[in-house]
Amino acid sequence: MGLLDIFRRHPNTINEKFVESPLRDNWYQASSYYPSPFALITTVNEDGETNIGPYQLTFPFEVIKGHSFIMCSRMNSNTDLHLQRTKVAALNYVEFDKAKLKKIVDLGYPGQTTEEKMKDNPYTLIDSPTPGREADGDRFPKIIKEAFQVYEVSVDTEQPIRDNGVTPSYFVLRIEKILMKETWQKNLADGATQLPNIPLAYGFRDGARFWFTEHKKPFFFPTPTNKGPKEESILYEANRLDAEYVQFTRDACKELTGVPRPFIKTVLKGIIKRAKEDGVELVDVDYVKKINAERNS
Ligand SMILES: Cc1cc2nc3c(=O)[nH]c(=O)nc-3n(C[C@H](O)[C@H](O)[C@H](O)COP(=O)(O)O)c2cc1C
Repeated sequence: MGLLDIFRRHPNTINEKFVESPLRDNWYQASSYYPSPFALITTVNEDGETNIGPYQLTFPFEVIKGHSFIMCSRMNSNTDLHLQRTKVAALNYVEFDKAKLKKIVDLGYPGQTTEEKMKDNPYTLIDSPTPGREADGDRFPKIIKEAFQVYEVSVDTEQPIRDNGVTPSYFVLRIEKILMKETWQKNLADGATQLPNIPLAYGFRDGARFWFTEHKKPFFFPTPTNKGPKEESILYEANRLDAEYVQFTRDACKELTGVPRPFIKTVLKGIIKRAKEDGVELVDVDYVKKINAERNS
């Protein structure tokens, strides 16, 4: 493909036959198309300076009960070495800004020391607001002020993946805290009516270009209300509202299927508040019936 082909109309390939794309190293970008968000990982070098490394290969791993990420790095990158030494990092996520994306490619160019690359850092580095995680010139990195969310992580040394000296470095990163700008946190807590404008990386092509894209305005489809058991969506919502303290049984949720959909969250919140007052950790059908009876009496 020549440079001018980039400006061609988008091809329609539905009726084409499949051919094989040869498996190469870095297959996700050298043999396929795999756009995704990426993290700007901050870690601390031996001089106590914060380093920023862009990493696309960062994926949610344990998501229920456990909270962790998988991260893959080329061996001996600054981030790899810092993680081995300090065992902590911050995964900073920024919104789309084309001028800054160019600088991110520079931050992702291998072979530079922290001091060299950070001279051209386009971001403002600040201390973490988390008590005990302020930058200490030793272990804890600064975070990126412009980020809309930051995962503060530590290396899970109990879940090593594989270290055979040949493959890249793989880490399980335990999420200790998610920091978020207040507007985005409130938006999420209120059911998310907006979504942040997250840049997507398509990765290296031709060894000479690093591709990104900006997504269009997000949209949604309502989840089905006429499929599967009626209590399913209530169960899902009920067990996410205050997952650490109060859980609901399926039968308890069946009991609530008569509540009109727009009111269900308020009703669930009311039950959770009451359950916490009563020291009830598992809301079952009898507990729901008891509260209903009290309300109706
Ligand atoms: C957007 C972006 C995503 C990247 N994702 C990865 C990745 O997932 N794994 C990796 O090893 N390198 C990745 N790279 C290349 C690294 O950023 C590069 O190795 C860089 O030297 C890492 O910085 P560090 O040495 O300061 O850790 C990426 C580069 C860019 C620009």
